[in-house]
Amino acid sequence: MTPATSLFTPVEADLQILADNLKQLVGNRHPILFAAAEHLFGAGGKRIRPAIVLLISRATMLEEEITQRHRRLAEITEMIHTASLVHDDVVDESQMRRGVPTVHSLFGNRIAVLAGDFLFAQSSWYLANLDNLEVVKLLSEVIMDLATGEIQQGMNRFDSSLPIENYLQKSYYKTASLIANSAKAAGILSEVAPETALHLYSYGRNLGLAFQIVDDILDFTSTTDTLGKPAGSDLKSGNLTAPVLFALEEKPYLEVLIERQFAQEGDLEQALELIQDSQGIQKARELAAHHAKLAAEDIAVLAPSASRQALTDITEYVLSRLY
Ligand code: IPE
Ligand code: IPE
Ligand code: MG
Ligand code: MG
Repeated sequence: MTPATSLFTPVEADLQILADNLKQLVGNRHPILFAAAEHLFGAGGKRIRPAIVLLISRATMLEEEITQRHRRLAEITEMIHTASLVHDDVVDESQMRRGVPTVHSLFGNRIAVLAGDFLFAQSSWYLANLDNLEVVKLLSEVIMDLATGEIQQGMNRFDSSLPIENYLQKSYYKTASLIANSAKAAGILSEVAPETALHLYSYGRNLGLAFQIVDDILDFTSTTDTLGKPAGSDLKSGNLTAPVLFALEEKPYLEVLIERQFAQEGDLEQALELIQDSQGIQKARELAAHHAKLAAEDIAVLAPSASRQALTDITEYVLSRLY
C-alpha cells in the first residue's frame, strides 16, 4: 500500500467500485478517445480527490449508507481531474504522467485535446444527471476555474514581479477549487447544515492550496522517477511557484535570470542554485503547513468517526510527501 491508500481504509471498498466504474463511464462510443482515457484511468493516480469525496460522504452519513449520488460525485470529480491533466500535459509538453507516457505523447496532441474535451463533456453530462442544481453549479464552476487557472499561469510566465497572492489565486483555480467544491457538494448530497457545507468547502480549499504548494516544492526537491512526471520543469518553463517567489525576495539576481528567460548558458542552473541557497523552499513549506493546519481545523467541525480521522490525517499526509 502506498502512504496515500492506507489513509483511505474507510473507503477502500468504495474506491474499488469507483475504479471499475470510471472506465465504464467513459463509454466506448469513440474507441480512440476511450483508449486514451482508459490509459490514464488505468495508470497509478493517487485518487486523492474521490477519496476525499467518499470520506466526506461517509463522515456526514454516519447512520446511513452513502447513496449512488455520492459515488457518482466521486467519479465525476476524478473524471474532471483527469481531463484537466490531459490538457495540462499538452500545455506543459510533459511526456510522463502517473508513471506512464502522457496521452498526447502516445496519441498526439489532436487526440489529447479531444479526449480532454470529451472527458469534460462527459463529466458535465453525469453531473447534470445527479439532478441537484446546487451541485451542478458548484462543479461547473470548477471546470471554468480550471481553465481560468491554466490561462492565468500561461499569461504570467516569466513574470518575476508576480505577487504571492496571484500565485495563490491561480493555485485555487487550478487545484483547490475542485477539491473545495466537490467536498462541499458531498456535504450537500448528505444535506448537511449550510455552516457545515462552508467548513467542508474551506477544508477542500486549504487542503488544495497545501497540496499544490507541496507539488510545486517537489518539482524542485524530488526526482522524475519518484514523481512519475518530470521534475524541475516548472522554473524552466517560466511557471514561477512559491519557492521561486520567496527566493526572489532575497536574491535580486534571480530576477535578471528569469526576465531574460534563462537565455544564456548556465542561467537555469544558476537560478536553481540561488533558490536552493535561499529560504524559498523553507518558506513555501511553512505556507503549505499553514494551509494544512487550517484544513484540519475546518474538518474538526464534523462528528468524530474513522472517516473524519482519515480526512484529518490527509492534511498531514499532504505535508509528509515532502519528507
Ligand atoms: C496532479 O494531481 C496535479 C496537481 C494538482 C499538482 P495529483 O498529484 O493528485 O495527480 P494524480 O491523480 O495522483 O495523478
Ligand atoms: C496540474 O498542473 C494540472 C491541474 C491542476 C489543472 P501542474 O502543471 O501544476 O501540475 P503537474 O506538475 O503537471 O502535475
Ligand atoms: Mg503540468
Ligand atoms: Mg501545468
